[in-house]
Amino acid sequence: MLRYLTAGESHGPALVATVDGLPAGLKVTAAYINRHLTRRRQGYGRGGRMRIERDQARFLGGVRGGETLGGPVAILIENRDWNNWRAAMDPEGPVPEEQARRVTRVRPGHADLAGALKYDRHDARDILERASARETAGRVAAGALTLRLLEEFGVQVIGHVLSIGTVRAEPSRLTPPEVGGQAELSPVRCSDAKATAAMVKEIDEARRMGDSVGGVVEVLVTGLPPGLGSHVQWDRKLDARLAAALMSIQAVKGVEVGLGFEAASRRGSAVHDEIFYHPERGFYRSSNNAGGIEGGMSNGEPLTVRAAVKPIATLYHPLQTVDLVSKAALQASVERSDICAVPAVAVIAEAAVAFVLAEAWLEKFGGDSLAEVRRNHQGYVEQVRAF
Ligand SMILES: Cc1cc2nc3c(=O)[nH]c(=O)nc-3n(C[C@H](O)[C@H](O)[C@H](O)COP(=O)(O)O)c2cc1C
Repeated sequence: MLRYLTAGESHGPALVATVDGLPAGLKVTAAYINRHLTRRRQGYGRGGRMRIERDQARFLGGVRGGETLGGPVAILIENRDWNNWRAAMDPEGPVPEEQARRVTRVRPGHADLAGALKYDRHDARDILERASARETAGRVAAGALTLRLLEEFGVQVIGHVLSIGTVRAEPSRLTPPEVGGQAELSPVRCSDAKATAAMVKEIDEARRMGDSVGGVVEVLVTGLPPGLGSHVQWDRKLDARLAAALMSIQAVKGVEVGLGFEAASRRGSAVHDEIFYHPERGFYRSSNNAGGIEGGMSNGEPLTVRAAVKPIATLYHPLQTVDLVSKAALQASVERSDICAVPAVAVIAEAAVAFVLAEAWLEKFGGDSLAEVRRNHQGYVEQVRAF
């Protein structure tokens, strides 16, 4: 069973990710994880914090000589900003009142109020430090290990931005790797150069107004065999698992597979992908409205999933709220903040999708070593080819 957990607060000493269930013999390096961490930090619209952090992964366990050992892989990512927060975030305490940096003017749209009520904390810092998407550095590190595993089998996972605010990229004729290549060059991770310029303007305009913007990201996956996930039980369905993983990303409020919501307004004949057969290609489709999943299983076509990201909750021109302690009507607190995090979500979504796919991969082809997984995968590929 593949699983992961993260720990750590936004302004605490470090973030930690533990990934359990990877096979032995997978080549991994901190440099590989760091490349993905750097991609997560980038993106037009991020705040000052991302200029402070360097996000260097350090293995604490589970890896020797550049290969996994089969045990839990533990990764540490230090927070450089910790130096500025030692007093406020001291785990040993007591925290001096004048240095506590308390948050009581809870922000609409953030976890502050619901978390303070639930955990009986009169300082919302106790909530926001963990609710913060700084946590996603741990997730991206964990996800990078699973991207590495999928790479071994020729699976490519490509995250990119489809829209920011009201600006949408034009539908693309590019192949998924081309989309990835173009997005990598864009400050907003969008493969459409014209839309990129308009998205940058949209973010500048929101910043000027003390406001924030959201958008839509897409993850494309090529190289998947048919049969990952299963129709037989609700919690084994690949689309359900992908939706949960994507919805768990901070600020994601909607997920679509393939045509998604658009399919609801079309006739069946304009939605379902007709099936063809060629002796060399096997079964194939001429369209992919299903986004590569039918019946909770991958169907061999490229996977296409999208996530809708709401605008950032912290506003430099704050909304009305109530102080947790005094109950006075005030303006919400302003914590140093991003204006737009959509480009980063494209990278986090890659990690989330890769984790679910690797989990399903190991369920189907599982083994204790990479060589064993490879044998099991090869046997299945031959079975499908000979079908
Ligand atoms: C990469 C990333 C960066 C984010 N940066 C901020 C930020 O700077 N300020 C903020 O208020 N929210 C930010 N958010 C969103 C909050 O973390 C999120 O809205 C909050 O945890 C509440 O969760 P919910 O939106 O899922 O309900 C960010 C989200 C992501 C994915």
